[in-house]
Amino acid sequence: MKSELLTALRSTKGFVSGQELCEKLGVSRTAVWKGMKKLKSEGYNIEAVSNKGYRLLKSPDIIDAEELKSIRKTAWAGNEIVYFDVTDSTNIQAKRLAEEGMPHGTLVIAGCQKSGKGRRGRGWESPKHDGIFMTLLLRPSFPPAKASMLTLVAAIAVAKAVRIKTGLFAEIKWPNDIVINGKKICGILTELNTEIDTIHYVITGIGINVSNQKFEKEIAPVATSLMLESGKEIHRAGLIEEVLEQYEFYYNKFCQTMDLSEWKEEYNEYLVNRNRPVKVIDPKEPFTGIAKGINERGELLVETEGQILAVSSGEVSVRGIYGYV
Ligand code: BTN
Repeated sequence: MKSELLTALRSTKGFVSGQELCEKLGVSRTAVWKGMKKLKSEGYNIEAVSNKGYRLLKSPDIIDAEELKSIRKTAWAGNEIVYFDVTDSTNIQAKRLAEEGMPHGTLVIAGCQKSGKGRRGRGWESPKHDGIFMTLLLRPSFPPAKASMLTLVAAIAVAKAVRIKTGLFAEIKWPNDIVINGKKICGILTELNTEIDTIHYVITGIGINVSNQKFEKEIAPVATSLMLESGKEIHRAGLIEEVLEQYEFYYNKFCQTMDLSEWKEEYNEYLVNRNRPVKVIDPKEPFTGIAKGINERGELLVETEGQILAVSSGEVSVRGIYGYV
C-alpha cells in the first residue's frame, strides 16, 4: 500500500484527490486516510486540502523497499527489493537469497551493516543512515570468464549516477573504486558462484559514503563522502534509483557484444588513472608504468619499458605511485 500511495502521489506535481486514490488503489477512503497518516508519521511532507486532495511536497531520506519501488524506473534491475534496517552484510544476504531462488535483478539494501565486507578480506564501514549499502543479484547466461567485467559495469554506473545526482566530478579508480578529488567515495565487491563453464549467480555489492563526517584512522586519509565533498545533503533513494538505471543501461549494452566495446571510450573518460603512473601489484612480479585506459575486455593497459601490457582485474591491484590514485 505504501509504495502504491507514493507512486500515485508522484504521478503528478499537483493534487491527487482522495477519490482518485481510492479508485487507483482499490481501497476505502478510511484506508487512504490511514495510509497518509502513516506516511506523515514517517516524515513525508504531504499537503491535504479539502476539495483538492493530497500533494507530496517532500520525501524524507528513507530507502526502504516501498520507497524504492515507488520511484523505480528500470525494467529489471530492482524488480525485487529486499530491505534490512540492520543486517550483517548485503552481500551475505544476497547470497542467501540467491540460494533461495530469488531472480536476476533482485536488489538487497540495508540501512546499516554490522559486518560490511570489503575486498581482500577487509571490512567496510557501514554506519547507520550514513551510506548506501546495496547488492544486486544477477543470473547471467554468459561464461564465468566474462564476469569480472561486471565490476566495471557497476563502476561506470555509480560514477555516472553520482555525477548526475550531485554534480560532483566522480572518477573511476580501476577497477573497483569511485573517487572524488582523489579520495574514495565508493567500493565495489563482486562475488561469483560458478561451475567450470556456468555462472549460478553473481552478486555485486556497492558501498557509497553519503553523509559520513569522519572515518576510522586507517582509511581517513583516502576516504571521503558525498556530503563532505559537496557540502549538501544527498537523497539516498534518488541516487540508488539512478545507479540502477545506469547499471541496467551499461549491462544491457555489455550483453549485446559480451564485451565493453560499446562504452570503452566513455569508461576511459571516467578513468582517474588514465595517463598517470601506476604501480601494478602483481603477485608474480610488481611493476610500474603509465595507465593508458582499458581495452574491450576491461583489462587495464599499462605502458612499461616501451611495451603495453594488459592487466586483468582478477589478478592484480593498482596503486598510484605518489598516493592512492
Ligand atoms: C572495497 O572497496 O573493498 C569493496 C567494498 C564493498 C562494500 C559493499 S557495501 C554493500 C555490500 N555489502 C558488503 O558487505 N560489501 C559491499
